Amino acid sequence: MALKRRTSPAARVRELRQMIEEANYRYHVLDDPQISDQDYDALLRELLDLELAHPELLTPDSPTQRVGGTPAAGFPPYVHARPMLSLGNAFDEADLLAFDARVRKLGGIEGDVAYTCELKIDGLAVSLRYDNGKLTAGGTRGDGSVGENVTSNLRTIKTIPLVLRARAAPARGVATPHHIDVRGEAYMRKSDFARLNAEREARGEATFANPRNTAAGGIRQLDPKMTAERKLSFYAYAVGEIDTDAPPRSQHELLAFLKALGFRVNEHAHAVPSIHGVIDFVKEWETKRDELDYEIDGVVIKVDDLALQAKLGSSGKDPRWAIAFKFRAREARTKLLDIVVSVGRTGVLNPNAVLEPVQIGGTTVSNATLHNQDYIRDNDIRIGDVVTVIRAGDVIPRVVGPVLELRKGNPPEYTLPTVCPVCGADVDHPEGEPMARCTNASCPAQLVERVRHFCSRGAMDIEGVGDQLSAALVDSGLVRDVSEIYQLDLPALLKLPRMAEKSASNVLAAIEGSKKRGLARLLSGLGIRFVGSQNAAILAGDFGTIDALAAATEEELLRSEGIGAEIASSVALFFAQEPNRAMIARLKKAGVDMTAPLREREPVGILAGKTLVLTGTLPNLTRDEAADLIVTAGGKVTSSVSKKTDYVIAGEDAGSKLTKAEQLGITVLDEAGLHDLLNGTA
Ligand code: IVH
Repeated sequence: MALKRRTSPAARVRELRQMIEEANYRYHVLDDPQISDQDYDALLRELLDLELAHPELLTPDSPTQRVGGTPAAGFPPYVHARPMLSLGNAFDEADLLAFDARVRKLGGIEGDVAYTCELKIDGLAVSLRYDNGKLTAGGTRGDGSVGENVTSNLRTIKTIPLVLRARAAPARGVATPHHIDVRGEAYMRKSDFARLNAEREARGEATFANPRNTAAGGIRQLDPKMTAERKLSFYAYAVGEIDTDAPPRSQHELLAFLKALGFRVNEHAHAVPSIHGVIDFVKEWETKRDELDYEIDGVVIKVDDLALQAKLGSSGKDPRWAIAFKFRAREARTKLLDIVVSVGRTGVLNPNAVLEPVQIGGTTVSNATLHNQDYIRDNDIRIGDVVTVIRAGDVIPRVVGPVLELRKGNPPEYTLPTVCPVCGADVDHPEGEPMARCTNASCPAQLVERVRHFCSRGAMDIEGVGDQLSAALVDSGLVRDVSEIYQLDLPALLKLPRMAEKSASNVLAAIEGSKKRGLARLLSGLGIRFVGSQNAAILAGDFGTIDALAAATEEELLRSEGIGAEIASSVALFFAQEPNRAMIARLKKAGVDMTAPLREREPVGILAGKTLVLTGTLPNLTRDEAADLIVTAGGKVTSSVSKKTDYVIAGEDAGSKLTKAEQLGITVLDEAGLHDLLNGTA
């Protein structure tokens, strides 16, 4: 019988300690964590549980026995007069209730315990020493007992007072403590982070990954000027050693005291009468965290009464009177397996990441948006990469970028397909624009929106066909492009859900009525890109029929007032698509009016304002071809010669018109002369 190999508890404990130590080192010393906080917490929990179950395995050098990281070389040590504690974690309501129960039990309290809730700022904990009101030294937490002396760097932080306010303004009612250690979080605002990265990018330098690491790295700069450049901020939330005649009695008094001394204290800190208030606060900030200009990763809950805090004391590294509620992690790394393209309702091609499934904030994520081609290129994202994915708030998960150190080989850059993945029509991706679009009006992906738009008031105005009916018509397969709206009949409509006979006949009457809206409304209903009601009216007025418009070249389209290159190219592209032409033929057959009264237009072109008469047979051009050239150049062709005629173009066997022109002294040109005129070389 084969024995199943099982890892012994001792081996697993060794393995866990190694992984945790590695993670600690990367996080605290290198400021470059490789695993999420959530994964780290899970490892630590597993180790704690194993050590509890097997006390013989517990050693003084276990990571569960220490408070933080290792002091980095380069700074003198900073010895904390009182240890800087860390905090135990709570992940759900049950953990909070258990914490409260323990506080009440150990504190010997019958009723509710009052707490102060504070946002857990995601930065770096530091301690500041003030003697007789003056900042004398400051250090990082380090391992809780000894950190690094980074006084010069801390002095660059504008929200850290160099002289306490009570000393600067003794009238405020708070006496300057003889000595005080003030603790709090050095952090970076999101806006300062964005600005710093923008500046670095402009200088061609590498950008930073996130505000926390940038703040932590900033505090550890050997040159304080480099720290100053990062524009860090500071919130005070605790004191270590304190020597004062009038110490505060509760955490919320302590915060007010720190504020009076001139520190910034987070304005969202909130005292609550019981654990239920804590639970409400936690829920509120889990959803509101994105509104802040700084990152928070949870809420710190502290017993409000400082005497009770003292009574509860601490167990090893964690105080019994405080706990950190950790929000769910929102970032994870996983492999980008593939990029698939979906087509949105407006024809936009959306590249989506297919991911190796990964847990983020309690849900399994296997898809994420990649926005567009520019985003993929700018962030250098390639299929096969290990990528960082974030889920912020309720938005769709997003791929932030690749983890370049883990890239294998040199995978090819990704480019969007040039034909629509849904219908195979051409994709239009104008130079310099982020979005690529399918050009086929009948593309099923775009259909619901196109049908709704076609029937909307500004277009064909078919009353009764809104969002719901458009979707029902498409989903049922009755309408596969807008021309099929005109094939609908009563039995077909009655098959749709929630469609009664009366409303069905109203819809049919509205459809019938829409046939007479004319070319301008039809054009705006077709949803040609850039052709809204205004441009549709211009084009309809200038071209008169859909056939004339469909036959127009981009150059001809450009002659219409207000029609620029983008619009002209979009119109030409629309009519160049065979499915669009077929759909227009079906609309025509159904009896939809595709004409408009021609508008007198201000002609443009080299022959603008000129009237020409053609007579006789030209050597190379038919009469129609010559007329086209003239009209295209903005000129007008009339059949008889008068004083208003500017040129007569005469060919072989020219008759009375030539004679009349000569009588009136009008310039007569041959075919070559016409070409010179058109080319501007006459
Ligand atoms: S109190 C015993 N209050 O969270 C009290 N900590 O895991 C210890 N933090 O190292 C700290 N905001 O870096 C406290 N309002 C806050 C905090 C806060 C962020 C950080 C701090 C600490 C860690 C505890």
